[in-house]
Amino acid sequence: MGSFFITGTDTDVGKTYVTAGLGVMLREMGIDVGVMKPFAAGTPQKKGFKSEDVEILSAAAQVNDPENLINPQFFPIPASPYTAWKNLKIKPKISPILTGFKKLSKLHDMILVEGMGGIMTPVLKDYFIADLIKDMGVPAVIVARSKVGTINHTIMTVRMCEKFKIPIKGIIINDFDSDGYKVDELTRDLKSLLGIPVLGSIPFIDDLSDASLHAIFKKRLDFKSLLK
Ligand SMILES: Nc1ncnc2c1ncn2[C@@H]1O[C@H](COP(=O)(O)OP(=O)(O)O)[C@@H](O)[C@H]1O
Ligand SMILES: [Mg+2]
Repeated sequence: MGSFFITGTDTDVGKTYVTAGLGVMLREMGIDVGVMKPFAAGTPQKKGFKSEDVEILSAAAQVNDPENLINPQFFPIPASPYTAWKNLKIKPKISPILTGFKKLSKLHDMILVEGMGGIMTPVLKDYFIADLIKDMGVPAVIVARSKVGTINHTIMTVRMCEKFKIPIKGIIINDFDSDGYKVDELTRDLKSLLGIPVLGSIPFIDDLSDASLHAIFKKRLDFKSLLK
C-alpha cells in the first residue's frame, strides 16, 4: 500500500490537522498507518516529543515509534531548515530521513508524511521539500485553505509538483476560515483549472479526539479516490 506526502500551499494551512484526520480514518479502516514529520521546527515542548506536530500525528495514528524515526530532525526556532541551518549552524541531513522512512515503511502498511511549510520550503542551497518528496518516491496530497488567495497558491503548488514530476493524489480544502470562498465554488474552479481531484473539504474542528476526527473525515473525504 502506498504512502502519502501531505504538503500544503503554505505553513499553517492545516497539514497537521489533515494528516491527523487521515491517520485516524485509515486506522479505523483497519490499515496499520505510521506517521513521519521529517523536519519539524519551533519552540520545543517540555514534555513528550519536541514537536507538537509529532505529538498530534503519533496520537492520531496510535504509534509508538521512536522520535528519531518519526522526526529525524528538529530545529528549535520557527524557520525553514535552510534558515535554521544559517542561524543555528545545524546542517539539515537528508539521509537519516530516507533511511527512517524505509524503516517505518517496514513497520507499517503505509506512512503519512507531513511536510514542512510548502513545496518550495528550502532545505539546502539547491534542495527543497519538493526534492525530498521526489527522493522519498511518494505521491503528494495538497492541503489548501479556503481563504481568498488560495487559488493562486494552489496553482503554484501544483505547477511546482509537475515541474518536479511529483504525482498528486488530490487536493483537500481546509475550510476553517470563516471568510473564505464557498467550498463548492472553490472545488469547481480548482477542478476545472487544474484537472486534479479535490478529495473533499474539512470544516472548523474544535475537537481533535479520535471520535470527532473519524466522524468528520469519514463524511467529508473521498477515501476511495485517495486509496485508488
Ligand atoms: N480545520 C481546522 N479547524 C480548526 N482549526 C484549524 C483547522 N485547521 C487548522 N487550524 C488551526 O490552524 C493552526 C495551524 O494548522 P496546522 O494543521 O498546524 O497547519 P500546518 O501543519 O499546515 O502548519 C492549528 O494549530 C489550528 O489552530
Ligand atoms: Mg504542521
